[in-house]
Amino acid sequence: MSDALIAINEELRRLQQEGVDRVFVEESTLSLLQPVAAKERTAPKKETTAGPISELEELAKGKEVKKKATPPKATSVSRPTGKPLPEQAPEFEIPEGDAATQIAWLKERVENCPTCKEHLSEHGKVVFGTGSAEADIFFCGEAPGADEEVQGEPFVGKAGQLLTKIIAAMGLQRENVYIANILKWRPEHDKPYGNRPPTVEEMNFCLPYVRAQIEIVKPKVIVALGNTAVTGLLGPDPNRRMGSIRGTWQEFAGIPLMITFHPSYLLRAESQNNPNAKKRLVWEDMLKVMEKVDLPISEKQQGFFLPKEK
Ligand code: URA
Repeated sequence: MSDALIAINEELRRLQQEGVDRVFVEESTLSLLQPVAAKERTAPKKETTAGPISELEELAKGKEVKKKATPPKATSVSRPTGKPLPEQAPEFEIPEGDAATQIAWLKERVENCPTCKEHLSEHGKVVFGTGSAEADIFFCGEAPGADEEVQGEPFVGKAGQLLTKIIAAMGLQRENVYIANILKWRPEHDKPYGNRPPTVEEMNFCLPYVRAQIEIVKPKVIVALGNTAVTGLLGPDPNRRMGSIRGTWQEFAGIPLMITFHPSYLLRAESQNNPNAKKRLVWEDMLKVMEKVDLPISEKQQGFFLPKEK
């Protein structure tokens, strides 16, 4: 195996540890990998290794990476194929009124945004956001997936069900918080399965909508779920490491921003040793959020996901 492939493999594994669950592979990277793949094709057949490296090799050979029936590996590879975006991000003024009226106005505007609509799949809907327009906590995810685009509501699939459980563990219901995504449509891609993370350009296009949602809701705390939401809110930073900033307070539009892992990262951890260790990390972040918004915290809640005493 070439040094380049080993380096890519190591980088993918490092990102996996960081909680990054998907990466783009640019066309230019694929062309670099083509000669390696060609060499592999002529070499005697070896048993393939599961994981990022074998996916890259398959991709370099121009094959589709088949998802296995077993829980997916933390890294899947997808190429952005989004339609072009307008140069100008949306500009608008929120009309006067109470939060409920303003959020209804914004929902109508976003659901009729020509760019958002243009990116929808045949049966897809724009996914605006849901919850209380006066919530103290604003959860921000990445982009709608297949379930969300059909229902037009964020976080209704498997990851969403886990988010709902996290919210319940905090003593709240979805109706008490606000839930939105950094992107308002499901990013289109060239595979019949999986999701593609949104590009920075796509997120920048939708950012005025997210900002307006936050301006209207005026939460006491924003929770960024996963690396993509962090990038969308704070802007890209190649030196930012999810492992270092998770659990820290940052700021967005003057509001405290808690960074935590995406629920889908926890779902994948289910199949690994000690999944409670990762759940505990997220839970500790939620305890900080609860403290910030003055939610009562019971002794039982303090101890969620801690190892049982023997
Ligand atoms: N993941 C997200 O980040 N948002 C959704 O709405 C669903 C899955």
